[in-house]
Amino acid sequence: MSELRIERATPTGNALFPTVRPRRLRRTPALRELVRETSLRPADFVYPVFVTHGRDVRVPIDPMPGQAQLSIDNLVREAAEAQQLGIRAVLLFGLPPTKDGLGSGAYDPDGIIQQATSALKQALPDVVVVTDVCLCEYTDHGHCGVLLDDGTVANDATLELLARTAVSQADAGADVVAPSAMMDGQVTAIRAALDAAGHEDVPVMAYASKMASAFYGPFRVAAGSTPRSGDRKAYQMDGANAREAMRELHQDAAEGADILMVKPALAYLDVIARARDAFDLPIAAYNVSGEYAMLKAAAANGWLDERSAMLETLTSIKRAGADIIITYFARDAARLLRSDA
Ligand code: PBG
Repeated sequence: MSELRIERATPTGNALFPTVRPRRLRRTPALRELVRETSLRPADFVYPVFVTHGRDVRVPIDPMPGQAQLSIDNLVREAAEAQQLGIRAVLLFGLPPTKDGLGSGAYDPDGIIQQATSALKQALPDVVVVTDVCLCEYTDHGHCGVLLDDGTVANDATLELLARTAVSQADAGADVVAPSAMMDGQVTAIRAALDAAGHEDVPVMAYASKMASAFYGPFRVAAGSTPRSGDRKAYQMDGANAREAMRELHQDAAEGADILMVKPALAYLDVIARARDAFDLPIAAYNVSGEYAMLKAAAANGWLDERSAMLETLTSIKRAGADIIITYFARDAARLLRSDA
């Protein structure tokens, strides 16, 4: 009888039942914790924040319940709170007072992000300040680069402006710069400009695989960055293409990216997993605004349990292979993880 069982022992299937019973390891919370393969830590999270001018400003963002546009004083307060929860990094997006065709607010040495970065580094030197390098929040047309008359976004002319943006952010004290414009060669251009400016120690977190996604909708409300005409499909990727995503990741790694990002996260867990297998660089995944909004909306209707759905979602992103999770849930999740301990 036992010989028969050994003969039937294959790594797949449950031919060994009743000897093998996977439920044995699920019997109690302690056993389940003992064999848990993936766990979240507050230090895994990057908390994205929208920064605006003024004092004591806090403008709630409608499609992102719990998130707000913050003036710099409130940003410092929230970042301090996040730090106390064990979150190490914030990602800054800026709302400039005025916009123009070339997005000059992005590389203004006294721009909103530059001011916010130096204020943060002064108040909280240990917080890792990551800055978004893109023009879409600063251009009056809402595109991520220089817009030509025929409606296309000029790649190479944009590179120079992105490089200036990154250098001005690093000058202000940014710890990491994160180019999200999806221009070809943006990592090379930024790396070269940073090095030339003496910022060879500032890493680049590259939005390497960034899809043209409907899940950015709430962000564009928050950042006022919806393109006035057209869409971003001629520079952001087609979400149907995983092999092309790998080419983008390889390209950015070759250009010197220090961290590779996949964005959005949930609809692209396969890309995260492939990136994890293919690279030894840290992999970041962006749990974007629409992913946050849909969970919040379902929870507000009583259709989902917010806490467990949030943790399940974040765990899935980590399990897929992300080392770093950029998420608007950062503070809520960190609070829960700490109360758990
Ligand atoms: C800027 C940028 C966007 C996001 C991050 N950086 C918007 C876009 O590409 O339209 C989206 C983040 C989110 O949805 O949370 N290029």
